[in-house]
Parts: sequence; C-alpha cells; structure tokens
Amino acid sequence: MPYKAFVLTSSDSGFAGEREDLSGPLAMEMLRGAGWEIAGYALLPDDRALLADKLREVCDSGEAELLITTGGTGFSKRDCMPEATADAAERMVPGIPEAMRWYSLQITPRAMLSRAAAGIRGNTLIVNLPGSPKAVRENLSAILDTLEHAVHMMQGRGH
Ligand code: MTE
Repeated sequence: MPYKAFVLTSSDSGFAGEREDLSGPLAMEMLRGAGWEIAGYALLPDDRALLADKLREVCDSGEAELLITTGGTGFSKRDCMPEATADAAERMVPGIPEAMRWYSLQITPRAMLSRAAAGIRGNTLIVNLPGSPKAVRENLSAILDTLEHAVHMMQGRGH
C-alpha cells in the first residue's frame, strides 16, 4: 500500500512529561501492521488552536493521506480534539465515528462518551480516536480495513 499516516496525540499530561503516551505508539503499530507507512508522530497539549494548526499543517503539507488522532475526545473541560478537527476539516465524515461507536458500544456503554469526529481537509482524512490504549485498539480495529479504500477514493481513484 502506497499510503502514509501521521499520528497526533492530544494530552496535557503526556506533553508535560507526566505520563508516557502509549496510545500514539499503539496506533502507529496497528497502522504499520495494516501496511501504512508512518509519516510522523506529534504529541501536543489539549489546546484547540494548537491542535487545529497542527492538523492543517499536516494536511496541507501532503505528507500523509491519513491523520489519526488519539485522546481529547471525552468530557473533561480540556478535551477539544473534535472541535479542532471541525476547525481544520473542509467536510465532515460522520460515518466513521458512527461505525466506531456502534462497534464499541457492544464492548462498553462508555463508548457513548467518546465525541470523536472525522473529516477531510484537502487530500487527507482526519480520524479521532479516544485516548486509552484499550479504546485505541478497539476503535481502530473497527475501521482499519476500510481506511485504505476511503483514502483511495479521496485521491480521485474511484472504487
Ligand atoms: N471505546 C472503546 N471501544 N473502548 C473503551 O474503553 N472508552 C470510552 C470511550 N470510548 C472506550 C471507548 C471512554 S471511558 C471515554 S471517556 C471516551 O472514549 C473518551 O475518551 P478520551 O477522553 O480518552 O478521548
């Protein structure tokens, strides 16, 4: 597969060095296992403007066709990844988070607490995942097989 993925983690404690980010590395490992090349990884605090700027930068640079985010989708005051994603995206893609929540609700009712969003900016698909490694594994496995086709269509290559 010729496509590249960038992973962005939103975590105040991870950024401050108070907690090791396990969710970003896990997402990268799963993506690599599915044939994606990893274009890069960044860890930022839960700051809407900073996150939206980074999302725009990665999409506009053309360095990755897929931008997976981890963390910042919950209810705490600082959680703002879905808002940053909506700021950066040109078109929203509700079906991907719907699929993740549908799958995840069969595992835990707490899946309804993820506000994860997805959207397209330019030629890049942005997909939010929650922040715990367990949630990353479950949510990403629900969509991983379909992401290549999504990106393929976005590059104008049809079905
Ligand atoms: N989805 C799955 N599949 N498995 C989980 O354990 N945890 C939920 C939810 N989605 C979970 C999940 C919980 S407890 C929360 S609070 C939200 O994701 C948001 O997580 P975040 O704040 O780390 O982004």
